[in-house]
Amino acid sequence: MTMTEATPVAPQRRASHRTILMCRPDYFTVSYRINPWMHPEDPTDTSLAVKQWEVLYKTYLDLGFDVQLIDPIEGLPDMVYAANGGFVLDNIAYGASFTYPERQPEGPAYMDWFRANGYDVRVPENVNEGEGDFLLVGDALLAGQGFRSASNSHQELGSIYGREVVSLNLINPSFYHLDTAIAVLDPSPEAGQTANIAYLPSAFDEPSLAILRERYPDAVIVNEEDAAVLGLNSYSDGYNVVIASRAKDFERQLRARGYNPIGVDLSELLLGGGGVKCCTLELRR
Ligand code: ARG
Repeated sequence: MTMTEATPVAPQRRASHRTILMCRPDYFTVSYRINPWMHPEDPTDTSLAVKQWEVLYKTYLDLGFDVQLIDPIEGLPDMVYAANGGFVLDNIAYGASFTYPERQPEGPAYMDWFRANGYDVRVPENVNEGEGDFLLVGDALLAGQGFRSASNSHQELGSIYGREVVSLNLINPSFYHLDTAIAVLDPSPEAGQTANIAYLPSAFDEPSLAILRERYPDAVIVNEEDAAVLGLNSYSDGYNVVIASRAKDFERQLRARGYNPIGVDLSELLLGGGGVKCCTLELRR
């Protein structure tokens, strides 16, 4: 008698429509150092940054996303990392209040855009870097702290949106924003599917890891090598997952689980310590 081994069947994934905000890196450079990736003494190539960003922009348009653009401002080289510009859910835009003075003017600039585009803007009382540290997973908000967003911003987030906020402690300075250590794969799961994430275990302290293991037993565990190219800093519509093209093992794992990984090269923007997700702010009406 021969035994045939069952081939695991990857679940059917469904893409859902996204509306996002991006900022062309016309003034991108690395002129200060606020994270370990940044080396102001090394040259950057702004036109290459724009070219690589345009591939990401085009990728989103091809996926049918509605991509809104905010005008870049000279002298704000990190403004390309739109994820830090705020957090938008239920038509409410919770403004950002940046940790470092170099980025502080970005907060009001993004709030002006939200106001002009019909969002109910909440001026922040506490230090927070928007969707860099706040991730919507199912009905819960995962919130990072340790390097940028302050813990009192987690309370503010919870009282604005009336949802559960799960605070997580980041411990590795290279993964200073939550969106560098966690990728949301199924943000608003369809009936029958569960919200899922991918993450880098070593980016978190033990209590936070225990929370992640308990809430997401089926999470994709990403290795150090893929995390080191900011592979986790990716953006999913529930089926298509736009990731760093160099994150090969992550790509393989996504495919095995029925997602459609799409690799893009943002090597120039990596010099500022950001990747795909950093350049992407989701707008949820
Ligand atoms: N240079 C920027 C900073 O350190 C990079 C921000 C990356 N953004 C993100 N959402 N992880 O603030």
